[in-house]
Amino acid sequence: MKDNIILTGFMGSGKTSVGIRLSYSLRRTMIDTDKWIEKKQGMTVSEIFAEEGEEAFRNMETKCLRELLKTTDHQIISVGGGLPVREENRQLLSRLGRVFYLKASPETIYERLKTDTTRPLLQVADPLAQIKRLSEAREEAYASCADVVVDVSERSFDEILEVIIGSLQDDRKERVQG
Ligand code: S3P
Repeated sequence: MKDNIILTGFMGSGKTSVGIRLSYSLRRTMIDTDKWIEKKQGMTVSEIFAEEGEEAFRNMETKCLRELLKTTDHQIISVGGGLPVREENRQLLSRLGRVFYLKASPETIYERLKTDTTRPLLQVADPLAQIKRLSEAREEAYASCADVVVDVSERSFDEILEVIIGSLQDDRKERVQG
């Protein structure tokens, strides 16, 4: 297994914000799978969904993980909210490093994203209902590939960082003790 720190969770769970802070604290660079795909395709995620469809985007996510497995270690990887839904992607994530699932309540996510226009899956008449439906459908996928679940709804960024860094230190101690 590689030594990357992987952040998963629903859209708006704070993967990017937590990843940037971790990146400063741990002096590791950060990769975001959505940004990686956008750069590679020369299109935004919304454009890819509109022009090529969701399935094409999901294939790009799998390709991205395969590529990262070949090229990337000791980094922070923040992944798109729907990426862990595919079984193959969950296996790739486990090989890429330690997976932290940032778990937020649908209400918290709705409050954060109610005016967002960059998530194609939330451009619907009732975004809260969509968030509830999708997060329920995905819970098992998120939980099953997580090494650590971090409840983020009631925690500040500092507290979230403390949990993640503490867990990395415990993991290191365990490895040293054998
Ligand atoms: C998606 C989450 C988005 C992005 C795309 C689809 C999803 O990433 O990959 O809009 O299916 O949950 P973020 O979780 O970074 O918003």
